[in-house]
Amino acid sequence: MSTAWTSRYAQRTRTVKSSAIRELLKLTQRPDVISFAGGLPASELFPTDRFRMACCKVLEEQPQLALQYGATEGYEPLREMVARHIARYGIKARSENVLLTSGSQQALDLIGKLLINPGDRVLVEAPTYLGALQAFSVYGAEYVSVPSDENGLCSELLEAPLRSGPKFMYVLPNFQNPGGTTLSEGRRHPLVRLADKYGVPIVEDDPYGQLRYEGEHLPPLVVIDRENLRRDSGYSIGNVIYLSTFSKTIAPGLRLGWIVAPPEVISKLVQLKQGADLHTSTFVQMVAYEVARDNFLDEHVKLIRRVYRERRDIMLRSLEEFFPPEVSWTRPMGGLFLWVTLPEGLDAQKLFETALRQNVAFVPGDSFYAPNGNHHDALRHMRLNFSAASPEQIREGIRRLSFAVKQQLQEMHPAHSVRR
Ligand SMILES: Cc1ncc(COP(=O)(O)O)c(C=O)c1O
Repeated sequence: MSTAWTSRYAQRTRTVKSSAIRELLKLTQRPDVISFAGGLPASELFPTDRFRMACCKVLEEQPQLALQYGATEGYEPLREMVARHIARYGIKARSENVLLTSGSQQALDLIGKLLINPGDRVLVEAPTYLGALQAFSVYGAEYVSVPSDENGLCSELLEAPLRSGPKFMYVLPNFQNPGGTTLSEGRRHPLVRLADKYGVPIVEDDPYGQLRYEGEHLPPLVVIDRENLRRDSGYSIGNVIYLSTFSKTIAPGLRLGWIVAPPEVISKLVQLKQGADLHTSTFVQMVAYEVARDNFLDEHVKLIRRVYRERRDIMLRSLEEFFPPEVSWTRPMGGLFLWVTLPEGLDAQKLFETALRQNVAFVPGDSFYAPNGNHHDALRHMRLNFSAASPEQIREGIRRLSFAVKQQLQEMHPAHSVRR
């Protein structure tokens, strides 16, 4: 007798839907499609020669260590390197505060496992990172959404949601995915103070912080938490868990990220990670260490910044050139994305279908809103990635996308003329 699998699935699987982005990516992988959909780094910038040398070195010098099981906490030299690396942003951590994970996506899953009971509410930005919603929803999370604008999460709207007792808040302060917005310094301080006042821990997700193309670096929430609130040195009683990743600075295929947290939180996360995968690949961690060492990572990030800044500027210029005046967009100071707002009445889902017929793709904005919220505006947005396509493709893709927008506008207001 064949098993009726679906009737055997655990209740928690009911909230799990395939990621809209992953499904879309399948369609957009056709070579004739110019895709602004994924969050892919520019693959031509991957340091492949350096990887080749690093792999050889690891296999020649330490093959038995590299191919053996390792500690769940991670490869010690890499933990120390991460601790040194984040010190430049004022984050005081020792290696015992660092847990290496299989991408920061695993970090989000482990945090969900650690903190969320079914029905617990998580305070999130509207919009927020879709992968975090996916990770938290499996554990039965419900959401309290707080709007964000061009200065990031609206801290002046935080008090009532915090008072309602969420289990923690999940915040993306730098070059947010999907909005491309940055939480202003003026909002960072009250956010940290209010979270402390209401005893709500903060999970600060910062995959893009190093990819700043203009302006000054702003202090991470984890640093403000320690300094403003005069906490003990280091991480002993901090209110913030900080996440980052090598995905955007070295290569996402490594699947290598990290969590920085107080030691007692790291110990518990280690137990949970053991159940998930014992540890992140030893070989991958050792190769990443060899790739990043001797200042290579810093030099490489400079190159990435130069290339992405140019692509961002081309996308912004093309939007100015081709898009109708009724449409607006964010001007990100870093990261990989910008966020387009369509005039009332336009529907980004429908636009996606029209755009795909023109061989150009993006992600419709509604994917990035927590379920059950009142996000009536969600369908008026689209997320555009500017890191993966070449400058020529960006200009051409925006030109094609503008046809789709103008076509929809014309359908709404037949008097509107479509310029080609
Ligand atoms: C905000 C955010 N957090 C986490 C991740 C996951 O990154 P990783 O590749 O390290 O798993 C991403 C990936 O795009 C992201 O945008």
